Amino acid sequence: MNDNTIRELIDAAIAVSKLAYAPYSDYHVGAALLSSDGHIFTGCNVENASYPATICAERTALVKAVSEGQRRFSAIVVVTRNGGFPCGICRQMLYEFAPDLRVIIANTKGEILDDMPLRELLAKGFGPASLEA
Ligand code: THU
Repeated sequence: MNDNTIRELIDAAIAVSKLAYAPYSDYHVGAALLSSDGHIFTGCNVENASYPATICAERTALVKAVSEGQRRFSAIVVVTRNGGFPCGICRQMLYEFAPDLRVIIANTKGEILDDMPLRELLAKGFGPASLEA
C-alpha cells in the first residue's frame, strides 16, 4: 500500500470523525476501511441516549462496506483526538472478515501513532476457522 493511499485514508477518517454523533462522550471517532479492490468505506461513532446502543466508527464503516457487497479488506485507519485503539467488539467484528487487516491509528492532526496487524490486537482470535471441525 503506497503512502498516497494511507494519506487518503487518514484524510477520509478525519473528515468522517467530524460527523460523529457523540453528545454523551464528546469523543469523536472516524474510521476509513479499505476494501481489497480499493474502495474506501468511512464510518463515525453514533451514540444513543440508551448508551449501550451506541455503534463505534469502525463497525459503522464495516457494516456499510459489507452491506455494499464487500467482504475483503486490507487496511483501516482509525482517527481520534488522542490515538485511541479499536475496542474489543470492533476488533472481533473486523477479525471475522479480515484477520490480516492492517490497523493504522492516527490523530486528528493526521499523525500516525501506530500501525499493526489486527492479529496482534486480537491475539488467538475466534473467527470462522474456529468453527471448522
Ligand atoms: N468508540 C468508537 O467509535 N470506536 C472504538 O473502537 C472505541 C470507542 C466510540 C464509542 C463512543 O461513542 C465513544 O467512542 C466513547 O466510548
